[in-house]
Amino acid sequence: MGGLEEGLRRAARLIEESSYLVAFTGAGISAESGIPTFRGAGGLWKKYRPEDLATPEAFARNPRLVWSWYKWRMNIVFSAKPNPAHRLLAVLEERGVLKAVITQNVDNLHRAAGSKRVIELHGSIRRVRCIACGFKEELREPPSEDLPKCPSCGSLLRPDVVWFGEPLPGEALEEAFREASRCDVMLVVGTSGVVEPAASIPVYAKAGGAALINVNPEPNAYTGIADVELRMKAVEFALKISRLLGIEV
Ligand code: APR
Repeated sequence: MGGLEEGLRRAARLIEESSYLVAFTGAGISAESGIPTFRGAGGLWKKYRPEDLATPEAFARNPRLVWSWYKWRMNIVFSAKPNPAHRLLAVLEERGVLKAVITQNVDNLHRAAGSKRVIELHGSIRRVRCIACGFKEELREPPSEDLPKCPSCGSLLRPDVVWFGEPLPGEALEEAFREASRCDVMLVVGTSGVVEPAASIPVYAKAGGAALINVNPEPNAYTGIADVELRMKAVEFALKISRLLGIEV
């Protein structure tokens, strides 16, 4: 399709000519690694919306249910591998073009692909923390118990992720907004752009004069403001743009 090819060429030019490129990613970049998104097709676990499970209230009401959702996700994440879209960002960083990846994802696939400067806004599903004493532990596999308990104080452990209604890690959020104000091009990949405050980051970058490249098979919150709108999946984008940029992913 002429429109898409032309869009890809414009995106490649923006990336090549950028002096400070920053990426902003969401669940869609990991979809082709087999990790379901939260919204859109295939985005629901049983009949629950994430807003009904990923909250402190849901955990207080029914920790078993919340843990069973997370264990399902953890099982998928622990066996997932980075895809060419994650690798594209790592290669662009290695070449000095990309300065940071700001991600809403909790799957660690950016680091697994080799990205060094990753700003994780929503925590990590590979870590648990105690709801009482703050004990934290990196996991090597999903916990086997229905209700994992803190080895230090015996209270409940929870995934070390940010739930609805909870503040984002302050330092990561500040760093993300700093990068957004510094960048001249922001590459947005695979996010619906509806969960605040993260969703405001590309809007902030745009307001500061950055050009936005928006990669998503569906329209999203940035469709009206993006400078280049690429209606395609992350992996197709990565393969096509890397050819235009003359790099291997
Ligand atoms: N490539 C690119 N984008 C894709 C692909 C793909 N293969 N498949 C789906 N998408 C797009 C969808 O069109 C959608 O716009 O990815 C987006 C996924 O949206 P969400 O599921 O809302 O994920 P995200 O934007 O990361 O959600 C934000 O909500 O519950 C939370 O904390 C969770 O960090 C998450 C936050």
